[in-house]
Amino acid sequence: MSAKARIGIIGCGAIASEIVKAAVVGMINADIVALMDIYPEKCERLAKMLEKKPEIYQTDIDEFLKHDMDYVVEAASQEAVREYGEKVLRRGINLVVLSVGALLDAELLERLRAIARDTGAHIYAPTGAIAGLDAIRALRLVGINRVALRTIKPPKSLGAKVSEPTVLYRGPAREAVKRFPFNVNVAAALSLAAGKEAEVEVIADPNTTKNTHVIIVESVASKLEIKIENTPSPENPRTSWLAALSVIELLRRLTGREEVVIGS
Ligand SMILES: NC(=O)c1ccc[n+]([C@@H]2O[C@H](COP(=O)([O-])OP(=O)(O)OC[C@H]3O[C@@H](n4cnc5c(N)ncnc54)[C@H](O)[C@@H]3O)[C@@H](O)[C@H]2O)c1
Repeated sequence: MSAKARIGIIGCGAIASEIVKAAVVGMINADIVALMDIYPEKCERLAKMLEKKPEIYQTDIDEFLKHDMDYVVEAASQEAVREYGEKVLRRGINLVVLSVGALLDAELLERLRAIARDTGAHIYAPTGAIAGLDAIRALRLVGINRVALRTIKPPKSLGAKVSEPTVLYRGPAREAVKRFPFNVNVAAALSLAAGKEAEVEVIADPNTTKNTHVIIVESVASKLEIKIENTPSPENPRTSWLAALSVIELLRRLTGREEVVIGS
């Protein structure tokens, strides 16, 4: 087995907790060496699960980054990507971004890309709570005419109080990730994969307990209609369980050695 990778995590909430559990059972071939959260007690909770205790940080990114790490996973907020992304990449450490909405800021994305190019680090945006980014990336090669996303969640997750299904937002992805920074990161991943800004609709539905995403992609080669009905994470109902599984699967691939690789 290859040497264990060394991972640091920024943001010790619902997604981080699933990553730590995956590391504990050996699903990811990695040691979690450092944790950071504005509420350090959240890191303490995760550190307790680990045999080798990681160091814990609150805001001191420079100390956090002194650890020898292969990957830093941002599972915090778009603000954390803006605050810490550059420093992580400057140290040549690969950055896994969950708050993908931040990357729709073209100026920030270009800055991060330039640093990654210089240092040889990579920026990874896992597929997250949706499916189909492999096909969408492939279709981009011949051009995509339209990308649309409809997200339907229980009103509470969207900070809404409604008694019947209600459209809270209809418009471009860039604005959607600003209005719903913790709910429609998938709109950003979709737009970045397609190379075209997604048209987004956000619906609060009091009759559902699921987080549902319906994606439509139109291209000369294929038309895709993908519906994903997600069970919310018990720790954070705005986040779907699949989002955590998606980053675990990405880390599993990155830190292991697969003889047969399925999917692009
Ligand atoms: N890409 C996707 O498909 C997808 C899906 C679900 C969630 N997300 C995003 O991933 C991120 C994490 O999700 P979660 O469900 O684990 O959230 P969570 O609220 O359960 O946990 C986030 C943690 O990050 C901490 N935090 C926030 N800002 C910080 C900062 N600047 N520095 C340090 N710590 C900070 C919070 O205190 C909290 O403990 C969120 O931005 C969420 O919107 C992405």
